Amino acid sequence: MIRICVSLYIAAFLLQNCSVNNSRNGLSINNPDKIFEFSADQYKKLMNELPEDRFPRSYEDDSLITSNSSWWCSGFYPGTLLHLYEETGDEELLMEVKRKFEYLEKEQYNTDTHDLGFMMFDSFGHAHRINPNPEYEEILINSAKSLASRYSPEVKSIRSWNSDPGDFLVIIDNMMNLDLLFWAAETTGDSSYYNIAVTHANTTLQNHFREDNSSWHVLNYDPETGEIQNKRTEQGLNDESAWARGQAWGLYGFTETYGNTGDQRYLDQAVSIAEFLINQPNLPEDKIPLWDFDAETDALRDASAAAIMASALLELDSYVSHSDYYDTALIILENLTKNYIAIAKPGENGNFILKHGVGHLPANSEVDVPLTYADYYFIEALRRL
Ligand code: GLY
Repeated sequence: MIRICVSLYIAAFLLQNCSVNNSRNGLSINNPDKIFEFSADQYKKLMNELPEDRFPRSYEDDSLITSNSSWWCSGFYPGTLLHLYEETGDEELLMEVKRKFEYLEKEQYNTDTHDLGFMMFDSFGHAHRINPNPEYEEILINSAKSLASRYSPEVKSIRSWNSDPGDFLVIIDNMMNLDLLFWAAETTGDSSYYNIAVTHANTTLQNHFREDNSSWHVLNYDPETGEIQNKRTEQGLNDESAWARGQAWGLYGFTETYGNTGDQRYLDQAVSIAEFLINQPNLPEDKIPLWDFDAETDALRDASAAAIMASALLELDSYVSHSDYYDTALIILENLTKNYIAIAKPGENGNFILKHGVGHLPANSEVDVPLTYADYYFIEALRRL
């Protein structure tokens, strides 16, 4: 009975909210092609503002903020362009991807970061899936080698951030980089990539989660013994809080790792994280999370956490059909479309797609701004839908 009532509520919510006329900007997930067209137009305008060797990062105080290729987000811009190219067939988007690849490809040798999955697999990996190409394959294998070089057999994890020699820092976000290793194992036949990925996932499964299935952000291990030295946050409200994007990374990472291995333990963890998120008393009715689940209820929302969560829930729904996962993703996407896309004035929001992302609030960096990864996972989720 409760289930029927919830479904009726969701149906009523969607009927009320999905109508094009009710949408503030005329866009609706009922017509995703219009959103893809709008987004492609935005990104073509963004392209014209961008110096050739730079990658978009955000838009603050009426200025476009850019990065070089070594910033962890450099793969999202070409990745979003590729999603939009697949949807619209617009060759201009593909030409821009190729221009950016000339600057991005050197990161295949970057052994100073764990973010190579984000940087290289969401860009070159995506391009290689669309159009298999030996040059891209080599770039991706080298990227996997660079990522694997950060693995420690003592800690049984891949090092996330570089640190003092007595520390070995692993963040929950690192689950997102394993897909590149699974791909490399399958492509090269070298099982060491697979073993590193599952060992990292197992260590994360064992140590990163609290009883309620929320996760700590940062674990600091002893590099010699693998003992945990402390558990803390960097980007969340406090060490014991549930930083929203971290929870979304965990959900996405374990869902994807189940997809790559078929290991039931990873699926169970993904389901537990989803249950934690969906049943959060602090999750607003529109399902766009606060930047941290333990923040005050009037705190800023984070569009990036919402988009990642929606995309992950849609993938999880393909493994465990559960109407709550699909329905929650749908509500998130509808509300992002309705209230977080900026088309009121041309150029508003720096020609990004979504507004209101929160990058690193405790450092007062990228707070309530557009973010390339919010755009990337929003478009990916719409395509999954
Ligand atoms: N991986 C960094 C972030 O989510 O902000």
